[in-house]
Amino acid sequence: MPRSYVIQPLTVENLNAAITLLEVADLAGAKTNLRRYLRCQPRCGWAAFDGDELVGIVTVLRQGASGFVGAMAVHPDHRGAGLGRRLLVHAQDEARRTGIATFLLEATPMGAHLYRRLGYVDEYETLILTRDVVSPPPSTRIAASEHAALSQLDLVATGTMRDDMLLDLLGEHESGVTVHRGGDLVGAAMLLGERLGPALARDPDAGEALFAQLVPACRVAVIPEPNRAALDAAARHGFSELRRLRRMRLGPAVAVRPEWIWALASPGAG
Ligand SMILES: CC(C)(COP(=O)(O)OP(=O)(O)OC[C@H]1O[C@@H](n2cnc3c(N)ncnc32)[C@H](O)[C@@H]1OP(=O)(O)O)[C@@H](O)C(=O)NCCC(=O)NCCS
Repeated sequence: MPRSYVIQPLTVENLNAAITLLEVADLAGAKTNLRRYLRCQPRCGWAAFDGDELVGIVTVLRQGASGFVGAMAVHPDHRGAGLGRRLLVHAQDEARRTGIATFLLEATPMGAHLYRRLGYVDEYETLILTRDVVSPPPSTRIAASEHAALSQLDLVATGTMRDDMLLDLLGEHESGVTVHRGGDLVGAAMLLGERLGPALARDPDAGEALFAQLVPACRVAVIPEPNRAALDAAARHGFSELRRLRRMRLGPAVAVRPEWIWALASPGAG
C-alpha cells in the first residue's frame, strides 16, 4: 500500500534525526552545514515524515532572489516512490511565495536525475578536491572591518546576496586571509577546519596569493570547473579530484562569475 507522507517545516527538534538521515544518505558536507543553515535561516528546511519517522529533508537557503537548494535526502527505504520530488516541489512552492525566482544547487549524480525532471538545467561542473595537510593554519582572521567589502566581493562573484551566511562563517572561521590592491579588497578566503572556502578573488594573482597562504593547512576545496586558473593552482598545490557535482539552475540565470570563485563555501550553500 502506498505510504502517506506528511511534509512539515524542519525544526531544531528534528535536527538530530535530520543529521542521521544525511549520514545514511552519504551527504557529509550537508551534515556539517545543516546546523549553520538553520541558525542563519530557521525556516529554510522541510522534512517528510512517515508516522513519527523523519524520512526526507531538503533546505532552500534564501540568497536575495535566489534560493540555494541543499541537504536533499530521502531515506533509502523510501526512495523511488516520488517523495524526493514531492519534497522539493513543496519547498520550491513555499520559497516562491517569499519572492524567490531562481533555484540553484550542486547536484550529486543521484540528485541530477530528479532535478532534470523538474526542469533544472546544467550550468557547469564543480570539482571536490582533496590533498594532504602539511602545515598548521595561519593565525590571521578576516577582521570585522572587512565584512562589508567581503560581502560586496561575494555578491559580484556569486550574483547572490548571502550576508547572513557569510557573517555566520566569519564568526566561526579559525583562519582567514585577504588581499588588497590600491586600497580595495580584491581577494578573501577562509578555512573552516580543514576545508577551504569561501575563497573569492577578482583575478588570478589575488587567487594565487590566497591559495599560497591557506592551502598548506587545507584538506578539501570545492572549485567550479570554469575557473581554470584556480584548478591549475590547485593541481600545483597537490590537490586531486575526489568527485564531481553538477551546478544546476531552475529559473532566470544569475550573474555568477565562476572565475572569481576560488573555492565554494560548501556544496550545499554555493
Ligand atoms: C536524490 C534523492 C533525494 C531522490 O529521492 P527519491 O524519493 O528517490 O526521488 P523520487 O522518488 O521523487 O524520484 C525522482 C526520480 O528518480 C528516479 N529514481 C528514484 N530512485 C531511483 C533508482 N534507484 N534508480 C533509478 N532512478 C531512480 C525516479 O524514477 C524519478 O524519476 P522519474 O521522475 O523519471 O520517474 C534520493 O535518491 C537520495 O536521497 N539520494 C542520496 C542523497 C543525494 O544524492 N541527494 C541529492 C543531493 S544533490
